[in-house]
Amino acid sequence: MALAQGTAGDVSRRRERMLIDGDWTGGASGAELVVENPGNRNPIASIPRGGAEDVDRAVAAAARAFPGWSRVVPRERGRMLQKIADAVEARVEELARVIAEETGNAIRTQARPEARGAVDILRYFGGLAGELKGETIPLGEHVLSYTRREPIGVVGAIIPWNAPVLLAALKIAPALCAGNTLVLKAAEDAPLGVLWLAAICQEHLPKGVLNVLTGLGEEAGAALANHPGVRKLSFTGSTEVGKLIMRAASERIVPVSLELGGKSPSIVYPDADEDWVVDGIIAAMRFTRQSQSCTAGSRLFLHAGIFDGFLARLAEKTSKLEIGDPLAETTDVGAIINEKQFRKVCGYVEEGLGLPGARLLVGGLPPKTGPLSQGYYALPTVFAGAANDWRLAREEIFGPVLVAIRWTDEEEAIRMANDSHYGLAAYVWTRDIGRALSAAHRIEAGWVQVNQGLGQSPGHSYGGVKQSGIGREFSLEGMLDSFTHRKNVTINLRTPPARPA
Ligand code: NAI
Ligand code: MG
Repeated sequence: MALAQGTAGDVSRRRERMLIDGDWTGGASGAELVVENPGNRNPIASIPRGGAEDVDRAVAAAARAFPGWSRVVPRERGRMLQKIADAVEARVEELARVIAEETGNAIRTQARPEARGAVDILRYFGGLAGELKGETIPLGEHVLSYTRREPIGVVGAIIPWNAPVLLAALKIAPALCAGNTLVLKAAEDAPLGVLWLAAICQEHLPKGVLNVLTGLGEEAGAALANHPGVRKLSFTGSTEVGKLIMRAASERIVPVSLELGGKSPSIVYPDADEDWVVDGIIAAMRFTRQSQSCTAGSRLFLHAGIFDGFLARLAEKTSKLEIGDPLAETTDVGAIINEKQFRKVCGYVEEGLGLPGARLLVGGLPPKTGPLSQGYYALPTVFAGAANDWRLAREEIFGPVLVAIRWTDEEEAIRMANDSHYGLAAYVWTRDIGRALSAAHRIEAGWVQVNQGLGQSPGHSYGGVKQSGIGREFSLEGMLDSFTHRKNVTINLRTPPARPA
């Protein structure tokens, strides 16, 4: 990400616009940012550098659209989302290429599944419109007391770059289905797929219902988080910025949902010294998305009895992953999103190489010459002999650096797994199901998988505990809790007869 220098005259670059009140606009200041392809560092487009004035206009448009949108019959809102899902699905390959190009995520392993995942999310929430129902409360024969699930109003949502289109769909679909209107700020590093999705949405939605802004976090993002017209904040990104969002929400007492970072443990029991577990660890670590995933199983707790043999096979399989051009079908692992993140990841690798006791099994620092040096390609890296109190084992690296920690006592393994300020995901690997479930129940995390390392699916209530976040997404409950409030209406049915006039 770099600031645009003299974009006039640069005809090769796409100039994207933001969506405000149904119109595509360049933004009040006219300033632009450049979006880069992290696979080769070429600029691919420029986007408006949105600011406070644009946020004002977008929030005002969303506020104007709200009364009408909230009164559209829910089934009808759901149908619009279904139509958007169909339209995206018809062009899903085009979307996959946009995502791969701007994020550096490999098309086969990540970008295409993400594009399809966004379709699933839109369709899933489109089908839930009829579930926006309340309850009746049994207060007695002569009282009718019921609750309504009402939309909150203008939602301000801010998303990161790691799965930009999926995460955009995850804000758009439930917020709109529930009758809210939305101002969504895309990440400065990956706005193009989100704008692409917004363009399809706009063909099916009344103007102002969905507004999509581009720009920097400290500018457009902060202005949105602090805008008095925003009645709900929904944020996905770093824990650091999540705290700022929560602070902004506290100033106005608006509800906030946060989906933040993780440092998720994978616990491997002695009976799980098998190849499918090795594959599972690689999947859970999300090496094929350069581990730029909040649910990456990045702390591997391996039983001492299988430690060396298991790691040797893990290193061998990891070394076979093909790293390179995100748009090539044969590529398993693409590029890190930007130079800043790339340097950050390299910094952790360098630190690991210098730690006494740390043993590099595979990966290491990226090559300085050759094709991989043209982009931000980090090597999938595994360090053995790690301690749980290392920075590498405590901080979210958000890059392909896995640390393996030895355990012998199960209590100790679970204690180490829980010794983290994060609590998003966890993975348990054993054929002993009683043991697995006992561990699953004791691990402090919002989501524990046993014997698999898959991604989220629609319907699963997803979110974290501790500093990994507040609230749940991906599910009916997530939509109801995050994007509606309950109103109670209580009626006395035994009113005295009206007096004759
Ligand atoms: P970030 O949290 O700064 O960015 C996420 C979104 O927040 C972007 O749209 C950004 O523009 C916006 N933002 C940034 N500062 C803001 C502010 N002051 N007010 C309002 N919005 C703001 O994440 P970043 O800098 O891209 O990555 C840094 C680290 O964050 C990563 O290394 C990783 O550890 C973590 N991260 C975690 C993610 C997750 O899904 N859990 C996603 C992205 C990053
Ligand atoms: Mg940041």
